[in-house]
Amino acid sequence: MTHVDVIVIGAGAAGLMCAAQAGYRGRQVTVLDMGKKPGRKILISGGGRCNFTNVNASPANYLCNNPHFVKSCLSRYSQHDFIELVERHGLQYHHKTLGQLFCDNSAQDIVDMLLTECDWAGVNIALRSEVLSVAANEGGYLVQTTQESYQCQSLVVASGGLTMPKLGATPIGYQIAAQFGLKVFPTTAALVPFTLHQHDKERFAALAGISIPCSITSDNGTSFKENLLFTHRGISGPAVLQISSFWRAGQSVSINLLPDMELKTQIQQWRETQGQKSLKNCLASVLPKRFVEILYDSNLLPDANVNQLTHRQIDELHATLHAWQIKPNGTEGYRTAEVTLGGVDTDELSSKTFEAKKAPGLYFIGEVTDVTGWLGGYNFQYCWSSGFAAGQFV
Ligand code: FDA
Repeated sequence: MTHVDVIVIGAGAAGLMCAAQAGYRGRQVTVLDMGKKPGRKILISGGGRCNFTNVNASPANYLCNNPHFVKSCLSRYSQHDFIELVERHGLQYHHKTLGQLFCDNSAQDIVDMLLTECDWAGVNIALRSEVLSVAANEGGYLVQTTQESYQCQSLVVASGGLTMPKLGATPIGYQIAAQFGLKVFPTTAALVPFTLHQHDKERFAALAGISIPCSITSDNGTSFKENLLFTHRGISGPAVLQISSFWRAGQSVSINLLPDMELKTQIQQWRETQGQKSLKNCLASVLPKRFVEILYDSNLLPDANVNQLTHRQIDELHATLHAWQIKPNGTEGYRTAEVTLGGVDTDELSSKTFEAKKAPGLYFIGEVTDVTGWLGGYNFQYCWSSGFAAGQFV
């Protein structure tokens, strides 16, 4: 039996940040992870360059059953604090788009930075240590792993969500929450591509790899203006990943394929300048040609010159291209999702310390909690913020 002050389950973004903070306070900390390497999700994130935060991060960028929950931790450790840490370690980074910050070199830089922080703070990281069970006792918590038993005063659950099972995702965090009587919201894959019904899949198969800037809207009116990407299985790209967090099975999404154009005005201009040209050719100047051809083959566009279009046809075109309705068959699920929606109810936790109100000494941080950020570095920022917050109290 090994005695330590703090056990952190999970050497991911949230767990490593929390461990370093607690270590700097003089706490003796051990991080347990079943993987061979720490920070495995960080390493694959952002296409290997880790979109580590977003300069615009604010509580409005998070889905949570208690929308106020993240306010406290984001204000106490913000994106600017993390950027300051990155700069202090001399990491090179760049702004890509929409406030997203990426490493110039590789996501490994972020992992190395966190490991350096943990090293300076005297944190011990035990890899290949799967947590099998947890029990409360007089001294705090008893943690049984495949390697060893640990006794700790504070137990931090930073075991992440269910995405990417190949990278060691397990439901242990939800199980521990349930064991101590904490409510856990049902989980589902989010920031995930949509699969299409067979007829749409066949119809759009030839478009795999084609990307279209669009604005996409969910049933509840949430909207994102980003790119849509056709894939062999359905539709993806940042627009689709973003809206997937707001989509529920059976619903449609509405896609404005010409978000920067008013089609009726454009048709009027085409009529004045190139009235004899086919609508198909005109549209191919503002949309990918292959996509236009498929809309034609599906009888969604009239086979006419622009100056032959009737008012009714123009209204229909307007609806088709400004509010194209797609009903996904489902999502690709946890296998390819970036995050897990749902999780440990934040009402069960202190927003200041992340300690469970019903279980003193037990903390939940990062993705295991019911907090899901938009695509764009917001999820890591929540990991840094929640990890930092808990690290001051464990
Ligand atoms: P995380 O899942 O990182 O860590 C949990 C750890 O717990 C794992 O290492 C696991 O092995 C361990 N564990 C689980 N069960 C255990 C057990 N029983 N015993 C021991 N250990 C156990 N976000 C973002 O902001 N910017 C980005 O660029 C990206 N990109 C991205 C790409 C891809 C492909 C994915 C899948 C996800 C992203 N994300 C992202 C999301 C981001 O990766 C995610 O929000 C964080 O990694 C969550 O960090 P956590 O520390 O909460 O859990």
